[in-house]
Amino acid sequence: MTSNLYHETYRPQFHFSPRQNWTNDPNGLVYYKGEYHLFFQHNPFGIDWGNMTWGHAISPDLVHWQQLPNALEPDSLGTIFSGSAVVDWRNTAGFQSGDDEVLVAIYTAAGNTSEASQGQPFTQCIAYSNDRGRTWTKYAGNPVLGHIVKENRDPKVVWHAPTSQWIMALYKDAETYAFFASPDLKAWTHLHDIDVPGCTECPDFFEMPILDHRDNGSPDMRWVFTSANGRYLVGSFDGHRFIPETGPHQVDFGANYYAVQSYSDIPPHDGRRIQIAWMAGGKYPDMPFNQQMSFPCELTLHRSPIGLRLCRTPVREIEQLHARAHVWRELALQPGSNPLSAIRGDLFDIRIEFEPADATEINFTVRGETMTYAVDGKTLKTLTSLGKSAPLDLDDGRIKLQILVDRSSLEVFANDGKVSMTSCFLPQPDDLSLSLTAAGGTARIHTLDVYELNTAWR
Ligand code: FRU
Repeated sequence: MTSNLYHETYRPQFHFSPRQNWTNDPNGLVYYKGEYHLFFQHNPFGIDWGNMTWGHAISPDLVHWQQLPNALEPDSLGTIFSGSAVVDWRNTAGFQSGDDEVLVAIYTAAGNTSEASQGQPFTQCIAYSNDRGRTWTKYAGNPVLGHIVKENRDPKVVWHAPTSQWIMALYKDAETYAFFASPDLKAWTHLHDIDVPGCTECPDFFEMPILDHRDNGSPDMRWVFTSANGRYLVGSFDGHRFIPETGPHQVDFGANYYAVQSYSDIPPHDGRRIQIAWMAGGKYPDMPFNQQMSFPCELTLHRSPIGLRLCRTPVREIEQLHARAHVWRELALQPGSNPLSAIRGDLFDIRIEFEPADATEINFTVRGETMTYAVDGKTLKTLTSLGKSAPLDLDDGRIKLQILVDRSSLEVFANDGKVSMTSCFLPQPDDLSLSLTAAGGTARIHTLDVYELNTAWR
């Protein structure tokens, strides 16, 4: 390995990517004692998918990551497919041996995907760690949930306090998922199945408050179900049955947003619902690694004129990387002018608030890739990024954008996260240009802040 490690041409500078070889889904996202754990689908032996193993990284702040030795390796039950992790605060499984609480991982043993597991089906298994995730022991009684159908997989487990039990959401097949309950993470009882149109793989299931809405002083809570592609349902859950009241809806419209999962056990005084996606499908020519994670985002639930909707914004910890700021206020952006023409770079956090006014298009071009906000008459307003488009209305007459630029990705967040677009790109290495232009007339820029970013790889 060379000293250039983590500084290669297309190496993300503030997104997680493995030191080398393949990754796909984020797995086992759990916070414990000052560490955000990120396990990830990993092929330790190749640049492409295979030999599924849980790789492992930790971070104190969701920005700086340190890769640790692999956590879970294939065995005779199968290779290790996606799943989740929890802190077993009450030691319900009886695995705790020291003073630290025990971490429990719940994963799919993908039978018949390796020599050693020939003829085995896909089952759900658990493993535990008594040393803050550094070493893992697979439970001797695995699998804890036997085969149901086809390649059933991707268990996501959450504690349901009112009924004092664990709840598992599991992907079955086609567009069908199932819910199970357990007192101890070992014995699971089927609750019910649910069909979610347009959704496959990687369920997530969590409770969150409707922001700014209080019923008799206590927050009005809902349960949110998400699938791998981020499509989500919002509803109620009483420990036995999930009853959706709206959805499926979509918050991210980008080309590379998949296998989303949110953190378990974020402390109540923080209270955020933090989600990471695999930026599926990025290209990384001649790199020692293949694929990367999205920047961690906070999900919030809002009551809007069209119903309950999620918003998705980057976690504030990005500000730790802010370096030089370029700031504009109350700027009339005329066609033909580019206020960003003097700026060069490949790492930015760009924030803008504007009124289109007479302009029909506002264009941001980052290293040759153009993102456009287009106003076509009164009704059609769209945000386009790397070939994908999303409807985006003005909020009080304005559009607010935050754009995170890394070496191989562009993530756009519009109007406080009502729409996000998670995309990979492959810029020309020597093109470090930025531009902001208006077309069709003059736009009114109220605020424009371009932060150059430091690398997270120190
Ligand atoms: C989603 C997925 C999961 C599976 C894993 C295997 O990308 O197909 O359903 O567990 O990847 O790597």
